[in-house]
Amino acid sequence: MKKKKGKSLALKGKSVGLIFHKPSLRTRISFEVGVFQLGGDAVYITEKEIELGKRETIPDAARVLSRYLDMIVIRTFSQDEVGQLAESASIPIINGLTDLLHPCQILSDLFTIYEKKKKFENLTIAYVGDGNNVVNSWLELSQRIPMELRIGTAKDTMPDGKILRDAMNSKISKILVTSDPVEAVKNADVIYTDVWASMGQKHLADNKANWLRGFQVNSNLVRHARKDCIIMHCLPANRGEEITDEAMDSPNSVVFDQAENRLHVQKAIMIKLVSKK
Ligand code: CP
Ligand code: NVA
Repeated sequence: MKKKKGKSLALKGKSVGLIFHKPSLRTRISFEVGVFQLGGDAVYITEKEIELGKRETIPDAARVLSRYLDMIVIRTFSQDEVGQLAESASIPIINGLTDLLHPCQILSDLFTIYEKKKKFENLTIAYVGDGNNVVNSWLELSQRIPMELRIGTAKDTMPDGKILRDAMNSKISKILVTSDPVEAVKNADVIYTDVWASMGQKHLADNKANWLRGFQVNSNLVRHARKDCIIMHCLPANRGEEITDEAMDSPNSVVFDQAENRLHVQKAIMIKLVSKK
């Protein structure tokens, strides 16, 4: 998709619904532009319009939307809502982020890693910071692709317990959870971080900042990783909190390539799903 920019019209005559219950710069715009570049139409739908699960049940809304649309991208709070939508819809449902998971992000991050490292297996990935949806998706990926995944986080900011146990039990990857950020990043190929307080958790921002104070990605921490390590962040970043300007703007940082690649990888996801129908 990245090489063939603009050369596929796989979504010609198709309509993709974009249901967003949380703010978004990258996901919304890269999906909308991606649909447009593939010859389709995107319909942006906010909570105010459809009141998903309030005006009618989610299964009823799913059945109706399936008769108008060819695919839905949904960003919301509860993973359960996305599950309900997928169960009752007869069209593909793409998770554009929930409190639990952010799969499109991690799929495109894997592509960014492949571009930079020329491989994506058996790398050491150090995630430093809040145990949120992004790290949960890393843990899911670690059950498909062998890697050494080290999570540096505080005891109060651990990732989802079940996803962590599944990742550890699957034995596909080596998983380490540590409260020592230096242990997490030692000789790592990739250092990854994300905001300390995710959307829907802003009321916990002060607590998270206290718990995670020692987990900032800064030059002092980065020097423990490999010299050619790449620094990743899904963005938006709170510069000066989970990552310093120095780390984010360093030659090792690939954060804006990551953002660009959301567009290319999501186009590939949509083409794969539309051709499955
Ligand atoms: N990384 C990401 O999903 O960004 P947005 O919240 O802006 O979509
Ligand atoms: N963990 C962040 C990711 C934003 C793309 C959030 O959920 O707000």
